[in-house]
Amino acid sequence: MLVYVWNGTADETLSHPFDPFPCGTAEQPFVIAQLGQSLDGRIATPTGDSKYINGGAALDHLHAIRARVDAVLVGIGTVVADDPLLTVRRVPGRSPARVILDPSGRLPCDARVLADDGVPRIVITRPGAPVAQGADCIAIEADGGVIPPRAILRALGACGFRRILVEGGARTISAFMDAGLVDRLHVLVAPLILGSGRNGLDLAPIGPLSQALRPRARAHLLADGNVLFDCDLSAGRLPSEPLSALAPWEA
Ligand SMILES: NC(=O)c1ccc[n+]([C@@H]2O[C@H](COP(=O)([O-])OP(=O)(O)OC[C@H]3O[C@@H](n4cnc5c(N)ncnc54)[C@H](OP(=O)(O)O)[C@@H]3O)[C@@H](O)[C@H]2O)c1
Repeated sequence: MLVYVWNGTADETLSHPFDPFPCGTAEQPFVIAQLGQSLDGRIATPTGDSKYINGGAALDHLHAIRARVDAVLVGIGTVVADDPLLTVRRVPGRSPARVILDPSGRLPCDARVLADDGVPRIVITRPGAPVAQGADCIAIEADGGVIPPRAILRALGACGFRRILVEGGARTISAFMDAGLVDRLHVLVAPLILGSGRNGLDLAPIGPLSQALRPRARAHLLADGNVLFDCDLSAGRLPSEPLSALAPWEA
């Protein structure tokens, strides 16, 4: 069971983390990102081990987020490192569609995200890249090696997904945050120190501290001693571009 304790120091106007997430639109789905990290901001050791940084209540919380979205998206680095299921198992609820960002066709055909359990599986890749059997494919042209997150969201919105969880890893979440496309960020901090390893975020460098993101936030102490920082990034969320502003392959 999740226990939330209002710490009384943050913004009281922020909705509770378990209020229903707002429903986005086809052009602009609602996007929540999550990071499960150590006290020193790491989401994995240098060898890529991340199971499990967080305690049981934090993992319950992650599953509860999955149960409240239409699709969960991860980068291929996470699939290769963790071979996750991305299902809802720890709390009641239905599993969301699974979306894997795999621009070079690295997804193993026996990856557990491809399990045929009645949930849609979608691979977002570049035109011409090989795609493992067992998933639908959306091919989007990359720009300088990066598939634009805005085009990814538009494609997922066209599939009918209105609430999307960007679950990891660092490169994937960072690309969405740098693009200004995350509405809400849940950072689950566990009381351990790795001292080395993968940083949770790797955003475009800033200069003065005044350029730092300072989202409205609430902290919640969970029953396992982990702390949830529920951050509202909607003030920096960039509006959808009109169709006319999109490249031909995005329209
Ligand atoms: N603690 C947590 O909350 C948590 C959650 C998830 C993952 N993790 C950990 O994070 C690590 C993986 O993170 P990561 O940053 O290395 O990998 P990642 O974000 O899972 O995947 C990165 C890869 O996905 C592709 N990709 C992502 N965004 C792209 C874009 N916009 N355009 C084109 N390709 C894109 C690229 O594939 P190519 O390399 O093929 O170009 C990229 O190298 C693992 O160790 C995992 O255990 C931790």
